[in-house]
Amino acid sequence: MQLEVNDLRVRYGRTQAVQGVSLSVAPGEIVAVLGANGAGKSSLLKAILGTVKAEGGSVRFKGQEMLGTPVSRRIRDGLVLVPEGRRILVSMTVHENLLLGAGLRQDRETLPREIDAIYDRFSNLAARRDMQAAVLSGGEQQMLAIGRAMLAKPELMMLDEPSLGLSPLLVGRVFDLLRELNGQGMSILLVEQNTHKTLELATRGHVLELGRMVMQGSASELLADEGLQRAYLGAG
Ligand SMILES: Nc1ncnc2c1ncn2[C@@H]1O[C@H](COP(=O)(O)OP(=O)(O)OP(=O)(O)O)[C@@H](O)[C@H]1O
Ligand SMILES: [Mg+2]
Repeated sequence: MQLEVNDLRVRYGRTQAVQGVSLSVAPGEIVAVLGANGAGKSSLLKAILGTVKAEGGSVRFKGQEMLGTPVSRRIRDGLVLVPEGRRILVSMTVHENLLLGAGLRQDRETLPREIDAIYDRFSNLAARRDMQAAVLSGGEQQMLAIGRAMLAKPELMMLDEPSLGLSPLLVGRVFDLLRELNGQGMSILLVEQNTHKTLELATRGHVLELGRMVMQGSASELLADEGLQRAYLGAG
């Protein structure tokens, strides 16, 4: 396995946000994490990257224990997170935001070509390259956040609700892009509330509820489970 999370726990004061979650991602796989608001999905991804401290458990990436190592080391090793709410820096330009993704890279030779490829793909970003990122629409911000993560040249990209707040058309574009990046060999750990589309993309899925894993299986098993949506994910 490329990523192996075992018995991971995250606590904020008295809130046990993640209570012993285990999951794995094989090289080239897309794994989904589903769950209602407050289930602990974001906390799980942040603990894997290291932006919140895990209380216990283990996160092995390419065979190495990551807990206790700095975020920068995990990014250099090939992990990246597109955070919830995109977290782009609105007072910086589109181009400056994009370059942030490459900040920790040692191999910078192909960078200009990769940046051109991102602008070719997202023409709205190219047109606004030197404008403050604040002018971007929600969908454009999401594309920028994903483009920035791509420039880190990750082996495993984690995304926290990338479809949130986007029109159905843009959600389709985000999912198409993830499918394409996966086709080029990138593994994906995808947190979503858009159950149906996510399980169509993923090979396997996990369902979190109040910090615990309450269900897991192949994407097709979970898609066929009519109780899933009603029991754990709210209406929709
Ligand atoms: N920084 C924090 N300090 C204290 N409690 C927090 C913090 N971040 C999250 N929590 C709590 O931890 C629990 C899990 O939150 P988390 O954001 O991981 O869930 P989530 O599944 O990502 O939810 P959402 O779907 O709303 O994004 C919630 O009870 C939340 O209130
Ligand atoms: Mg969240």
